[in-house]
Amino acid sequence: MSRIVFLNGSFLPLEDARIPIMDRGFLFSDGVYEGFGVLGGRVIDNDLHLARLERSLSEIRIANPYSREQWAAFEQELVHRNDMDEGFLYLQVTRGVADRDFFFPQEGAPTVVMFTQKKSIVHSPAAEKGIAVISVPDLRWKRRDIKSVSLLAQVLAKQAAKEAGAQEAWMIEDGFVTEGGSSSGFIVTKQGRVIVRPLSNAILPGITRKSLLCLAEETGVVLEERLFTIDEAYNAAEAFLTSASNFVVPIVSIDGRPVGDGKPGAVTRRLQELYLSMARAS
Ligand code: PDD
Repeated sequence: MSRIVFLNGSFLPLEDARIPIMDRGFLFSDGVYEGFGVLGGRVIDNDLHLARLERSLSEIRIANPYSREQWAAFEQELVHRNDMDEGFLYLQVTRGVADRDFFFPQEGAPTVVMFTQKKSIVHSPAAEKGIAVISVPDLRWKRRDIKSVSLLAQVLAKQAAKEAGAQEAWMIEDGFVTEGGSSSGFIVTKQGRVIVRPLSNAILPGITRKSLLCLAEETGVVLEERLFTIDEAYNAAEAFLTSASNFVVPIVSIDGRPVGDGKPGAVTRRLQELYLSMARAS
C-alpha cells in the first residue's frame, strides 16, 4: 500500500503529490513546520503543537489556513489512512507558489503538506540504551523560537554527529549549550537537580520539554531553568533529550566522555516513564 499524504486539502498517494518549483518553501525556506509524535494512533500533545504552529505562522506573517479543529481532523484522518500506530507526523506550511521575488506575493494561498513516518519510539535502541552526542558551534539565525523549515545548520550539525559515531549534536553559543539539532537538551546534576535552558529566541520552545516540565513539577523533581555549559554537561550525573519524535532519550556520552557511569540514569528513566504514561493515557 502506498503512503497517503496530505497536500492542500487532499489526501493522495505520495508519488502523486507534487509541488511546483516556484514554491517559496523550496526557493526561500519561506515556511514553518511542526512535528508530532503518534502513539496508539493518537497525536500526542496536539493542542500544544498546534498552538506553537499558530505562533510560528503569525511570527512570519502567514495566515493560518485551518482552525485547530480542522488541523486535528486532518491529522487524525492521515494517521487512520496510513494505519499508523506509532511514529512521527510532519506538517509544513509555506508562503505558497509565486514567481521568485523576495517580497510577499500579493495573492495566492499557502502550501500545506502533511505526511507520516512509521517508527518505533517507545522501544527504539535510543530510548532503551541511550545515545552519544557531540558538541558543535551553533551556527543558526537569531529567531530559533520560530519553527522555520530553514534547517541547514542543523543538517550540518547532525551529519557531523553521525560521522563522529553519535546520534545528536548539542549546539554551543557563548560557551553555553543552546539545544540539540532536533531536540531540547537537559542535564541532571550530581545533587539530582534537572537543569534546562530557559525559553528565549535562542531556542525552540520544545513541546515535549514543556509537557515534561509540567509532569515533573507534580512529582517533586527539582527543576532549574538556567543556562549550562558543555563542561557542566561533561560533569553531570545524567543527561537526556526530549523531542516529539523520540519523547525522552538518555544521553550516555558527550564528546566521547561517558556521562555519569555511561548508562541511562535513574532520574532520566523516571522522566521517560512519566512522559510515556501520559502519552499512553492521552
Ligand atoms: N525537532 N529543538 C529543536 C531545534 C528541534 O528541531 C526540536 C524538534 C526540538 C524539540 O521540540 P519538540 O519537543 O516540540 O519536538 C527542540 C523535530 C522533532 C524535528 O525537526 O524532527
